[in-house]
Amino acid sequence: MKRHPALQTLSRDHHQALVVAQRLRKAGDRGTGEAQEAFLEFWRKECQLHFRVEEEVLLPRFAAAGGGNSPAIARVLVDHAEIRLHALRLQEGSASTDVLRELGELLADHVRLEERDLFPAIEEVLSDRQLRRLAADVAGAERQS
Ligand SMILES: [Fe+2]
Repeated sequence: MKRHPALQTLSRDHHQALVVAQRLRKAGDRGTGEAQEAFLEFWRKECQLHFRVEEEVLLPRFAAAGGGNSPAIARVLVDHAEIRLHALRLQEGSASTDVLRELGELLADHVRLEERDLFPAIEEVLSDRQLRRLAADVAGAERQS
C-alpha cells in the first residue's frame, strides 16, 4: 500500500535504516568498525531527527486523533530509548560483533513495527484533514533541524 504523503519522508528513512540494520546484522570481526561507522553516520544525519519527529509530532498527533490506547506507542518509545542507548555506547567506543548484531535486529524489528503496525494505524485513525496537518507539521519539524 502506498503511504500517505504525511508519512513518506519517515518511510524513506526507514528504508535507509533497514540498509544500515542489514550491515549491522552481517557485522563480522573484520567489518565491525565499518558497520559501527555506518550506524553512527545514519544516527547523526538521519535517525536522531527522525526519532524526534516521531516522538514530538507523530505520536502526539496519533494520540490526539484517538490512537492513544494503541500499544504501538509504548513499544515505539521503548525501542527508541534502547536504540538511543546503543548509539550513546557506540559513540563512546567500539562495540563487539554481538552488540552490533543485536542492534541490527533491534533496528530492523523496530522499522517493521512502525511500517506494519503504527503507520497503518495512523492512516486509519487520522482523517484526511488531520493527515494533511500532520504532513505540514512533519515537514516543519524536519526543516527546523
Ligand atoms: Fe521510525
